Amino acid sequence: MSLNEYSDVVVRRVGLNRTDDLLSLEAACFQSDRISRRNLRRLLCAPSAYCAAAYRNGALVGSMVTLFRRTSRTARVYSLAVLESERGHGIGRRLMDRAEQEARRRNCVRMRLEVRMENVSAIELYKRLGFVDTAVIPGYYEDGAHAFVMRRELV
Ligand SMILES: CC(C)(COP(=O)(O)OP(=O)(O)OC[C@H]1O[C@@H](n2cnc3c(N)ncnc32)[C@H](O)[C@@H]1OP(=O)(O)O)[C@@H](O)C(=O)NCCC(=O)NCCS
Repeated sequence: MSLNEYSDVVVRRVGLNRTDDLLSLEAACFQSDRISRRNLRRLLCAPSAYCAAAYRNGALVGSMVTLFRRTSRTARVYSLAVLESERGHGIGRRLMDRAEQEARRRNCVRMRLEVRMENVSAIELYKRLGFVDTAVIPGYYEDGAHAFVMRRELV
């Protein structure tokens, strides 16, 4: 653990009763391409999805949604967010570690995700965890921004 990493963060799987909290966090962290309430509720109940939240002193500070495709044994990190005031203290990494743990538990052989090409902090985090960019999807986001597709083999 590095010096500025918080030690009092708890990561837990969350369900439908956390819908409102997760939507508030999304609204605070993303300008566009937010998950709709309907989509989030569907994900919170789906056996093929894993939604987790990070809490610090009882307050929600981060969230992660990962989707699993059994046929391709691939885990797709669909959403990752940490409150701006709590960034830089290892919470994003903790959430990604949980996504990886869950991916391995479900026998996935790789992880993938899409990230805005200009999102330096997220790209650095993913690279640090062993993800490499494998493709570009032009105009992937609502505002026309391009995405990197990043992948990491788990075996
Ligand atoms: C991306 C995000 C989740 C990172 O969360 P975080 O809790 O700040 O990340 P961590 O503190 O765990 O950082 C882990 C590593 O990521 C990298 N990193 C994180 N923020 C960084 C920054 N601003 N600049 C460069 N590297 C950064 C570093 O390598 C860091 O490790 P280090 O502290 O040992 O150097 C957070 O910035 C966020 O929520 N951003 C807005 C939403 C978003 O863009 N989500 C990703 C969508 S794909």
